[in-house]
Amino acid sequence: MGSSTYNFLPYAFRKGDFVPFVEANVSVATHALHYGTAAFGGLRGVVKEGKTLLFRLDRHCARLSASARYLGADYPSNFFEDVISRFVALNKPESNFYIRPLVFTSDLGIAPRLHSIEYDVVVYGLLLGDYLPPEGVSCRFSSWYRSEDRSVPGRGKISGSYITSSLAKTEAVSSGFEEAIMLNAQGKVSEATGMNLFMVKDGVLVTPSEDQDILVGITRASIMELAQDLGIPVQQRPVDKGEVIQAQEVFLSGTAARITPVNKVEQYIYSTERPITNLLKEKLFAIIEGRDPKYQKWITTISHA
Ligand SMILES: Cc1ncc(COP(=O)(O)O)c(C=O)c1O
Repeated sequence: MGSSTYNFLPYAFRKGDFVPFVEANVSVATHALHYGTAAFGGLRGVVKEGKTLLFRLDRHCARLSASARYLGADYPSNFFEDVISRFVALNKPESNFYIRPLVFTSDLGIAPRLHSIEYDVVVYGLLLGDYLPPEGVSCRFSSWYRSEDRSVPGRGKISGSYITSSLAKTEAVSSGFEEAIMLNAQGKVSEATGMNLFMVKDGVLVTPSEDQDILVGITRASIMELAQDLGIPVQQRPVDKGEVIQAQEVFLSGTAARITPVNKVEQYIYSTERPITNLLKEKLFAIIEGRDPKYQKWITTISHA
């Protein structure tokens, strides 16, 4: 997919100011471009009646602030909340979109390091519908393992770490699948290329725990809270590959994927009866679209006026 297939929002944030998106460029010598020394976030904006609804803005900004800490960059969470709110109000998007904030080492020149270096923050957006087919995806187990925390801090959304996701995604697609499930160095199930994994086993919702080299997803945390509120038992624990094959339901979760069912893993096909996946999906969509007053606290509304 080339860049021409995207509809970018007209204004971006760069060097502390808003500029037309086409002017928000960097030099080819930018440090982060060479070493992956950047941290990013990703949020969806839902446009409804001249307003934008943002799901869990505070959590996204807190995670970005914590991810930037690995780079040695000190940006408080409320800095991102303020910039993103102003970004939305300025762009006044007309349909649902995605926001990408990024903190990066902006010095020109060489030498991988995180000291004696400058940073910049960019925020840009693009119109976005479904990221994965809503009817579900086919997955394979990747031959690429998710990095261990002692090599790459997985709790941070660090740009350089996405080489593993990229290798895994392309391996999956080129071998006839739509998504990849990565194991960790212990051979336990970790996550998909940009989504966390859940399975339903005998009525219990199970997801790999935070010590399984996952990115600690905001959608994941929200789904677990929703499930508990609905009386569905939840377990966070190490998960074996064989358990995923035996599960009654498997789905992926993330800002881009929301809840996307897994139709099959390798040659194993799941039933299209997915009571728990469907219930959680319906609930999550209602919340994200501002239709559930009980979870209004998860939504930030920004007026386009
Ligand atoms: C590797 C990875 N895992 C999981 C997720 C899901 O996280 P969230 O629900 O916060 O979007 C993402 C997306 O941010 C991701 O990139």
